Amino acid sequence: MEHNFWHERWQSNQLGFHQDATNQRLMTYWPRLELAAGSTVLVPLCGKSLDMVWLAAQGHKALGIELSQIAVDAFFSENQLPTTKETVRDFEVSRSGAIEIWCGDFFKFDPALMATADAVYDRGSLVALPTDMRPDYCAKIKADLSPKAKQLLALIEYNQNEMQGPPFSVSKEYVIEHYGDCFAIEQLHDEQISELPDRFRERGLTAMRDTAYILGPKS
Ligand SMILES: C[S@@+](CC[C@H](N)C(=O)[O-])C[C@H]1O[C@@H](n2cnc3c(N)ncnc32)[C@H](O)[C@@H]1O
Repeated sequence: MEHNFWHERWQSNQLGFHQDATNQRLMTYWPRLELAAGSTVLVPLCGKSLDMVWLAAQGHKALGIELSQIAVDAFFSENQLPTTKETVRDFEVSRSGAIEIWCGDFFKFDPALMATADAVYDRGSLVALPTDMRPDYCAKIKADLSPKAKQLLALIEYNQNEMQGPPFSVSKEYVIEHYGDCFAIEQLHDEQISELPDRFRERGLTAMRDTAYILGPKS
Protein backbone atom coordinates (compact mmCIF):
# COMPACT_ATOMS: atom_id res chain seq x y z
CA MET A 1 0.00 0.00 0.00
CA GLU A 2 1.18 3.51 -0.64
CA HIS A 3 2.18 5.55 2.39
CA ASN A 4 -0.75 7.91 1.83
CA PHE A 5 -3.21 5.07 2.25
CA TRP A 6 -1.97 4.46 5.79
CA HIS A 7 -1.55 8.13 6.65
CA GLU A 8 -5.19 8.69 5.64
CA ARG A 9 -6.27 5.71 7.74
CA TRP A 10 -4.64 7.19 10.81
CA GLN A 11 -5.86 10.73 10.09
CA SER A 12 -9.46 9.54 9.73
CA ASN A 13 -9.21 7.06 12.63
CA GLN A 14 -10.15 4.07 10.41
CA LEU A 15 -8.38 1.52 12.55
CA GLY A 16 -10.30 -1.73 12.12
CA PHE A 17 -7.01 -3.62 12.45
CA HIS A 18 -6.28 -2.31 15.93
CA GLN A 19 -7.01 -4.67 18.82
CA ASP A 20 -8.07 -3.34 22.22
CA ALA A 21 -6.42 -6.24 24.03
CA THR A 22 -3.20 -8.20 23.75
CA ASN A 23 -3.26 -10.61 20.82
CA GLN A 24 -4.31 -14.11 21.87
CA ARG A 25 -1.86 -15.91 19.59
CA LEU A 26 1.00 -13.84 20.99
CA MET A 27 0.17 -14.78 24.57
CA THR A 28 -0.36 -18.43 23.71
CA TYR A 29 2.63 -19.05 21.49
CA TRP A 30 5.30 -16.57 22.56
CA PRO A 31 6.81 -18.95 25.17
CA ARG A 32 7.60 -21.33 22.28
CA LEU A 33 10.30 -18.92 21.11
CA GLU A 34 12.17 -19.51 24.39
CA LEU A 35 13.80 -16.10 24.36
CA ALA A 36 15.98 -14.91 27.19
CA ALA A 37 14.79 -11.98 29.28
CA GLY A 38 16.21 -8.77 27.90
CA SER A 39 15.96 -9.99 24.29
CA THR A 40 15.12 -7.40 21.67
CA VAL A 41 11.89 -7.97 19.76
CA LEU A 42 11.36 -6.18 16.47
CA VAL A 43 7.73 -5.25 15.78
CA PRO A 44 7.57 -4.08 12.15
CA LEU A 45 4.58 -1.98 11.08
CA CYS A 46 3.57 -1.84 14.74
CA GLY A 47 0.73 0.70 14.64
CA LYS A 48 -0.27 1.42 18.24
CA SER A 49 -0.41 -2.25 19.12
CA LEU A 50 -0.81 -3.10 22.80
CA ASP A 51 1.27 -6.19 22.07
CA MET A 52 4.36 -4.03 22.58
CA VAL A 53 3.27 -3.31 26.15
CA TRP A 54 2.86 -7.05 26.71
CA LEU A 55 6.28 -7.83 25.21
CA ALA A 56 7.91 -5.23 27.45
CA ALA A 57 6.11 -6.74 30.46
CA GLN A 58 7.72 -10.10 29.58
CA GLY A 59 11.12 -8.46 30.07
CA HIS A 60 11.85 -7.76 26.41
CA LYS A 61 12.93 -4.62 24.66
CA ALA A 62 10.19 -3.85 22.12
CA LEU A 63 11.52 -2.12 19.01
CA GLY A 64 8.60 -0.94 16.87
CA ILE A 65 8.71 0.59 13.41
CA GLU A 66 5.70 2.57 12.22
CA LEU A 67 5.01 4.98 9.38
CA SER A 68 2.49 7.20 11.13
CA GLN A 69 3.48 9.68 13.83
CA ILE A 70 -0.21 9.80 14.81
CA ALA A 71 0.00 6.09 15.65
CA VAL A 72 3.22 6.49 17.60
CA ASP A 73 1.97 9.45 19.63
CA ALA A 74 -1.34 7.66 20.28
CA PHE A 75 0.49 4.55 21.49
CA PHE A 76 2.48 6.38 24.13
CA SER A 77 -0.27 8.75 25.24
CA GLU A 78 -3.01 6.08 25.42
CA ASN A 79 -0.72 3.90 27.54
CA GLN A 80 0.30 6.90 29.65
CA LEU A 81 3.98 6.37 28.92
CA PRO A 82 6.13 9.49 29.10
CA THR A 83 8.54 9.65 26.16
CA THR A 84 11.80 11.14 25.06
CA LYS A 85 12.20 11.92 21.35
CA GLU A 86 15.16 12.05 19.02
CA THR A 87 15.59 12.38 15.27
CA VAL A 88 17.88 9.75 13.73
CA ARG A 89 18.32 10.24 9.98
CA ASP A 90 14.90 9.55 8.36
CA PHE A 91 13.27 8.48 11.63
CA GLU A 92 11.69 10.16 14.63
CA VAL A 93 12.45 7.88 17.58
CA SER A 94 10.19 7.87 20.66
CA ARG A 95 11.34 5.98 23.74
CA SER A 96 9.76 5.03 27.04
CA GLY A 97 11.34 2.39 29.27
CA ALA A 98 11.80 -0.84 27.34
CA ILE A 99 9.73 0.34 24.37
CA GLU A 100 10.97 2.40 21.48
CA ILE A 101 9.21 3.16 18.23
CA TRP A 102 10.98 4.41 15.14
CA CYS A 103 8.58 6.46 13.06
CA GLY A 104 9.39 6.15 9.36
CA ASP A 105 9.47 3.69 6.47
CA PHE A 106 10.31 0.12 7.46
CA PHE A 107 12.05 -0.36 4.11
CA LYS A 108 14.56 2.35 5.10
CA PHE A 109 15.19 0.99 8.58
CA ASP A 110 18.89 0.59 9.39
CA PRO A 111 20.05 -3.01 8.70
CA ALA A 112 22.54 -2.77 11.58
CA LEU A 113 19.68 -2.07 14.01
CA MET A 114 17.59 -4.87 12.51
CA ALA A 115 20.51 -7.19 13.22
CA THR A 116 20.26 -6.42 16.96
CA ALA A 117 16.84 -8.12 17.12
CA ASP A 118 16.58 -11.56 18.68
CA ALA A 119 13.06 -12.03 17.37
CA VAL A 120 10.37 -10.54 15.17
CA TYR A 121 6.71 -10.38 16.09
CA ASP A 122 4.57 -10.02 12.95
CA ARG A 123 0.88 -9.38 13.47
CA GLY A 124 -0.62 -7.13 10.84
CA SER A 125 2.66 -6.65 8.95
CA LEU A 126 2.86 -9.21 6.13
CA VAL A 127 -0.92 -9.11 5.76
CA ALA A 128 -0.85 -5.30 5.47
CA LEU A 129 1.28 -5.42 2.34
CA PRO A 130 -0.02 -6.10 -1.19
CA THR A 131 1.55 -8.84 -3.29
CA ASP A 132 3.93 -6.48 -5.07
CA MET A 133 5.43 -5.19 -1.78
CA ARG A 134 5.43 -8.35 0.31
CA PRO A 135 8.47 -10.02 -1.29
CA ASP A 136 10.57 -6.91 -0.51
CA TYR A 137 9.44 -7.10 3.11
CA CYS A 138 10.46 -10.77 3.38
CA ALA A 139 13.75 -10.04 1.60
CA LYS A 140 14.62 -7.27 4.07
CA ILE A 141 13.75 -9.46 7.05
CA LYS A 142 15.97 -12.23 5.70
CA ALA A 143 18.83 -9.96 4.67
CA ASP A 144 19.02 -7.87 7.85
CA LEU A 145 18.05 -10.19 10.69
CA SER A 146 20.66 -12.18 12.57
CA PRO A 147 20.69 -15.81 11.39
CA LYS A 148 19.85 -16.82 14.97
CA ALA A 149 16.70 -14.68 15.17
CA LYS A 150 13.25 -16.22 15.46
CA GLN A 151 9.83 -15.00 14.34
CA LEU A 152 6.25 -15.41 15.43
CA LEU A 153 3.81 -14.76 12.59
CA ALA A 154 0.09 -14.26 13.24
CA LEU A 155 -1.59 -14.32 9.83
CA ILE A 156 -4.95 -14.72 8.16
CA GLU A 157 -6.05 -16.74 5.16
CA TYR A 158 -9.14 -16.31 3.04
CA ASN A 159 -10.32 -16.49 -0.56
CA GLN A 160 -8.73 -13.40 -2.08
CA ASN A 161 -11.37 -13.47 -4.87
CA GLU A 162 -14.05 -12.57 -2.29
CA MET A 163 -12.35 -9.49 -0.86
CA GLN A 164 -9.47 -7.20 -1.65
CA GLY A 165 -7.02 -6.41 1.11
CA PRO A 166 -5.75 -5.08 3.30
CA PRO A 167 -5.67 -7.24 5.23
CA PHE A 168 -4.39 -9.62 2.57
CA SER A 169 -4.50 -13.39 2.73
CA VAL A 170 -1.08 -14.94 3.37
CA SER A 171 -1.01 -18.72 2.94
CA LYS A 172 1.24 -21.37 4.40
CA GLU A 173 2.64 -21.90 0.89
CA TYR A 174 3.57 -18.23 0.76
CA VAL A 175 5.37 -18.43 4.10
CA ILE A 176 7.29 -21.49 2.94
CA GLU A 177 8.12 -19.97 -0.46
CA HIS A 178 9.43 -16.68 0.95
CA TYR A 179 10.94 -17.74 4.28
CA GLY A 180 11.64 -21.45 3.83
CA ASP A 181 15.15 -20.86 2.45
CA CYS A 182 16.30 -19.13 5.67
CA PHE A 183 14.04 -20.37 8.46
CA ALA A 184 12.73 -23.65 9.81
CA ILE A 185 8.95 -23.19 9.78
CA GLU A 186 6.40 -24.75 12.10
CA GLN A 187 2.69 -24.04 11.86
CA LEU A 188 1.27 -23.55 15.35
CA HIS A 189 -2.31 -22.59 14.63
CA ASP A 190 -4.96 -22.96 11.94
CA GLU A 191 -8.52 -22.16 12.93
CA GLN A 192 -11.65 -21.08 11.12
CA ILE A 193 -12.84 -17.76 12.52
CA SER A 194 -16.32 -18.54 13.81
CA GLU A 195 -17.66 -14.99 14.01
CA LEU A 196 -16.41 -13.05 11.02
CA PRO A 197 -16.28 -9.33 11.87
CA ASP A 198 -18.93 -7.20 10.13
CA ARG A 199 -16.26 -5.07 8.45
CA PHE A 200 -15.18 -8.16 6.46
CA ARG A 201 -18.69 -9.51 5.81
CA GLU A 202 -19.69 -6.14 4.40
CA ARG A 203 -16.83 -6.45 1.91
CA GLY A 204 -18.13 -9.82 0.66
CA LEU A 205 -16.05 -12.23 2.69
CA THR A 206 -17.69 -15.49 3.78
CA ALA A 207 -14.87 -17.25 5.65
CA MET A 208 -11.45 -16.58 7.11
CA ARG A 209 -8.78 -18.65 8.86
CA ASP A 210 -6.59 -17.51 11.67
CA THR A 211 -3.06 -18.97 11.47
CA ALA A 212 0.23 -18.71 13.33
CA TYR A 213 3.76 -19.88 12.64
CA ILE A 214 7.03 -20.02 14.48
CA LEU A 215 10.14 -19.47 12.37
CA GLY A 216 13.55 -20.34 13.72
CA PRO A 217 17.10 -20.92 12.57
CA LYS A 218 17.65 -23.88 10.28
CA SER A 219 19.70 -26.53 12.04
C1 LIG B 1 -2.58 -3.43 9.48
S1 LIG B 1 -1.79 -2.22 10.44
C2 LIG B 1 -1.16 -3.26 11.76
C3 LIG B 1 -0.63 -2.55 12.95
C4 LIG B 1 -0.16 -3.45 14.09
N1 LIG B 1 0.82 -4.40 13.68
C5 LIG B 1 -1.31 -4.14 14.76
O1 LIG B 1 -1.32 -5.37 14.84
O2 LIG B 1 -2.22 -3.42 15.24
C6 LIG B 1 -0.36 -1.86 9.46
C7 LIG B 1 0.47 -0.72 10.00
O3 LIG B 1 1.66 -0.60 9.22
C8 LIG B 1 1.98 0.75 9.04
N2 LIG B 1 2.81 0.79 7.81
C9 LIG B 1 2.41 0.59 6.55
N3 LIG B 1 3.45 0.66 5.70
C10 LIG B 1 4.55 0.91 6.46
C11 LIG B 1 5.93 1.08 6.17
N4 LIG B 1 6.38 1.03 4.91
N5 LIG B 1 6.78 1.32 7.20
C12 LIG B 1 6.32 1.40 8.47
N6 LIG B 1 5.03 1.22 8.81
C13 LIG B 1 4.15 0.98 7.82
C14 LIG B 1 0.63 1.44 8.93
O4 LIG B 1 0.67 2.81 9.23
C15 LIG B 1 -0.19 0.63 9.94
O5 LIG B 1 -0.16 1.23 11.21
